[in-house]
Amino acid sequence: MKGIILAGGTGTRLYPLTKVCCKQLLPVFDKPMIYYPLSTLMLAGIKDICIISTPKDTPVLKDFLGDGSRFGLNFSYIVQQLPKGIAEAFILGKDFIGDDNVTLILGDNIFYGDFGLIQAIRDHKNGATIFGYPVTNPRDFGVIEFDNEGKVISIEEKPQKPKSNYIVPGLYIYDNDVIDIATNLKPSKRLEYEITDVNVEYLNRGKLRVYPMGRGVAWLDSGTTSALSEASTFVEIVEARQGLKMACPEEIALRLGFISLDKFKNEIDNMSRCQYRTYLEGVYREVYAKANNISLGQLGICDKNLLQNL
Ligand code: TTP
Repeated sequence: MKGIILAGGTGTRLYPLTKVCCKQLLPVFDKPMIYYPLSTLMLAGIKDICIISTPKDTPVLKDFLGDGSRFGLNFSYIVQQLPKGIAEAFILGKDFIGDDNVTLILGDNIFYGDFGLIQAIRDHKNGATIFGYPVTNPRDFGVIEFDNEGKVISIEEKPQKPKSNYIVPGLYIYDNDVIDIATNLKPSKRLEYEITDVNVEYLNRGKLRVYPMGRGVAWLDSGTTSALSEASTFVEIVEARQGLKMACPEEIALRLGFISLDKFKNEIDNMSRCQYRTYLEGVYREVYAKANNISLGQLGICDKNLLQNL
């Protein structure tokens, strides 16, 4: 399974924040926005990830994220010359996807909670898998219509009269046919290659699965100033309560075994002294203690050197 993070666009609604800054590098509380979709892909076990962005922002994202090796990942980058729609990602990403299946996530989407992504990817043999999420403002999204038995009847992009309050959030799993489907799309009235048209094509072929996300799952997009501020507050509250960071790629890479403890330590050593580093030092201590079968309390006695290094 390949992964794509679509991180271009114009960020009009976040102006003037986006006049110079890349939208997906704006802070969502304590880390850049792109860490959230990146973490979602990592937690799903996806390691080959292509980041698609604008001519202006692609070099900036590349400079910031690098080749992915520090997270045990392989990153590649593709420029989208103009924001011609989400589905263009599959045309631009044709060579990157190759013969594989692909999961696409939008660079400003934040998912929190277990909504069965790992299972969905594991079960995904062919066709398309998307998710359904209830919102109060369905008019702004692709809206899913269900029949009485819960079967999908239609998906409409930004309808005036939504047929349900279930919309399609920015996370999509497709088989390799998506490249052909996207290539044969006609641009919509707003001159975009619409992701809804891709989903409708899979629906017409009888190959669309929609997994409803449970009530315990949070889906936030951070495309407006209010949404960005709310997302930051949400992350701050959850992190303060649990003492655990949400969407911390270094931690995920370590805990999922994408990188070794030594590599993780090197990463910490290269960080400036900050709260983010202090958190990772705590993760290091915990994993080190577990690996060496010692309690955290014993750590100072067992390995003074380790503590000095931290
Ligand atoms: P949007 O929020 O629809 O667009 P935007 O980011 O340009 O913002 P605005 O509407 O305020 O101008 O895009 C959702 C995500 O998809 C966002 O991360 C940008 C990305 N995107 C692209 O990379 N290319 C595109 O052609 C489109 C339509 C979106």
